[in-house]
Amino acid sequence: MATKITLTVIKADVGGYVGHATVHDILKQKAAEVLDDKGKGVLDDYHVTGVGDDLELIMTHRKGVDNEEVHKLAWDAFVAATQEAKKLKLYGAGQDLLSDSFSGNVRGMGPGVAEMEFVERPSEPVIIFMADKTEPGAWNFPLYKMFADPFNTAGLVIDPKMHAGFTFEVHDLMAKKRILFNCPEDIYDMLVFIGAPARFCVKSVYSRTLNEIAATSSTQRLSLIAGRYVGKDDPVCIVRCQSGMPAVGEALEPFAMPHLVAGWMRGSHNGPLMPVSVAHACPSRFDGPPRVVALGFQLAEGKLVGPVDFFADVAFDGARQMANELASYMRRLGPFEPHRLPLDEMEYTTMPEVVKKLENRFTEIE
Ligand code: F6R
Ligand code: MG
Ligand code: MG
Repeated sequence: MATKITLTVIKADVGGYVGHATVHDILKQKAAEVLDDKGKGVLDDYHVTGVGDDLELIMTHRKGVDNEEVHKLAWDAFVAATQEAKKLKLYGAGQDLLSDSFSGNVRGMGPGVAEMEFVERPSEPVIIFMADKTEPGAWNFPLYKMFADPFNTAGLVIDPKMHAGFTFEVHDLMAKKRILFNCPEDIYDMLVFIGAPARFCVKSVYSRTLNEIAATSSTQRLSLIAGRYVGKDDPVCIVRCQSGMPAVGEALEPFAMPHLVAGWMRGSHNGPLMPVSVAHACPSRFDGPPRVVALGFQLAEGKLVGPVDFFADVAFDGARQMANELASYMRRLGPFEPHRLPLDEMEYTTMPEVVKKLENRFTEIE
């Protein structure tokens, strides 16, 4: 039987440079050193990068999902990078490591995780999407477009291996429940939920024809884990492409329309998700606007051949232009919704203090 490969992406903000803008090179170097030294015999390959203030570890191995050794390795890389961040007094050093010690699995400990196990196909193109200054529900719109919208993905209509559609696994992050939707027949029901991305997130997508996993995302909400504001979750998502999965260009196409996502300044504002290259993943204007990077790799016996930095393509200049115009429009609304998030979705709020202060000034309306 063919052996399975696992593709694991684990990310954390262990210190921003400057403020919450980017990852300092020393942190990336340190993390790579740890994966190199301690990863021998554990990993097949790895690639370290930074998107906004998030340190991203892309790893391949044969140990399956939720593997303790692999998660511990990532944890050790983040701890080592945190030590460097502390020396440089980088901003929020160690902020996403919510525990002092590792206990079996990074899930629920702060870092974001997306991972999938599969038999490597004769050719296995994958895209790793990584976002900063937004939340896991930001993937709902593009994943819907990629796997359920024939206006985006021509293959849904004309590729016999895609025509039967895809199954979406949707998580309710508040109730901690999951449900499977078979698309296309369930799309109207599914949209009732995934149109509310603060609560419902597409966790994974499966091909109904190939019976294979096609996409998976990180869905943890740091604020729900920590019970206080610790930054937005800045999610990652893995998409397998071609031969019955969306073509690379179909997987990238949803990002030509910079949709509005929650996050941006203080995790409390809606703004356009701007597709950018790694070099431009430095959110500056009002700590944003939120960014997304797409790195493509060919897997070859577990090796990560790449990356190709897809959004460096000039074909996404128009999306960036639109995102800048939308950003200016939204900014002009200042502290008003829908730029500012509804009260219950803001990551920072002075509401309880202000209500308390004004308690005696509120009177009944007849
Ligand atoms: C958003 C984000 C930043 C910070 C902002 C204030 O996810 O990380 O916009 O919220 O820079 O940061 P503090 O409260 O640390 O001064
Ligand atoms: Mg930060
Ligand atoms: Mg971040």
